[in-house]
Amino acid sequence: MTQNIEGKVVVITGASSGLGEATARHLAALGAKLVLGARRLDRLTVLARELDLPAGAVVQTDVSDAEQVKRLVDGAVAAHGRIDVIVNNAGIMPQSLLEHGRIAEWDRMIDVNLKGVLYGIAAALPHMTRQKSGHIINVSSVAGHKVRPGSSVYAATKAAVLMLSEGLRQEVKPYGIRTTVISPGAVETELPASVTDTEVAARIRQFYDQVAIPADSFAHMVAFAMSMPDNVDINEILYRPTAQEL
Ligand SMILES: NC(=O)c1ccc[n+]([C@@H]2O[C@H](COP(=O)([O-])OP(=O)(O)OC[C@H]3O[C@@H](n4cnc5c(N)ncnc54)[C@H](OP(=O)(O)O)[C@@H]3O)[C@@H](O)[C@H]2O)c1
Repeated sequence: MTQNIEGKVVVITGASSGLGEATARHLAALGAKLVLGARRLDRLTVLARELDLPAGAVVQTDVSDAEQVKRLVDGAVAAHGRIDVIVNNAGIMPQSLLEHGRIAEWDRMIDVNLKGVLYGIAAALPHMTRQKSGHIINVSSVAGHKVRPGSSVYAATKAAVLMLSEGLRQEVKPYGIRTTVISPGAVETELPASVTDTEVAARIRQFYDQVAIPADSFAHMVAFAMSMPDNVDINEILYRPTAQEL
């Protein structure tokens, strides 16, 4: 499950913690050439040192700014001559009941979870269509398939990523570009810390403590999709902790 990864140029957003960081570690060990983005440059710099990445392999990036995402991707192409994979992973989950009207958090989730993915696609597609190859990996969630009280806006952004990914899949067929959308269940990362509503945060913390699985589960899904022969396109992966009922 590791062929077709060595030497690939992979851009990962949200690589400073959680799923993105675990994916960076796993793909680095498999010989991929990484370019990592997130806002916390200090965290990226420590990771780059640990993985022995070359200068320029980390770029401070806020995915809610299209120009910054373009700079991240164009930088990868300038450094390596191509981009093989983009993992549009950055995301936040400040869940709350709609009746609490936390409009700023709704806006932020739409900006990061949905528009951030769109900006990643916009940045990568000109290169991938020119190359006539590439692989766009978007991150949805079990929440993109199932909604619960408190998760409406988060789930809406993740359902949008699912729909967007299916449209993308059809549009990029003529260019030989592969598309994968990965929907994880509860995985142990810093994500629950993005919940500011104390009641919801406590409920989510308890749920994660009961069922969450390690972040390298996601890294293995990315590696699985990447490692398929070029004529095999793994379009959707939905996975959960074995103990997760919902
Ligand atoms: N953990 C789970 O149970 C789970 C389940 C399903 C789906 N997911 C999805 O998995 C993805 C990764 O989340 P995670 O679980 O790994 O959580 P995490 O540990 O909190 O990581 C989130 C990453 O996104 C980055 N990020 C947040 N806002 C950003 C912005 N505006 N611009 C650039 N980067 C930004 C963070 O970096 P900076 O703060 O340094 O920018 C961090 O690297 C998210 O899309 C999440 O919705 C997670």
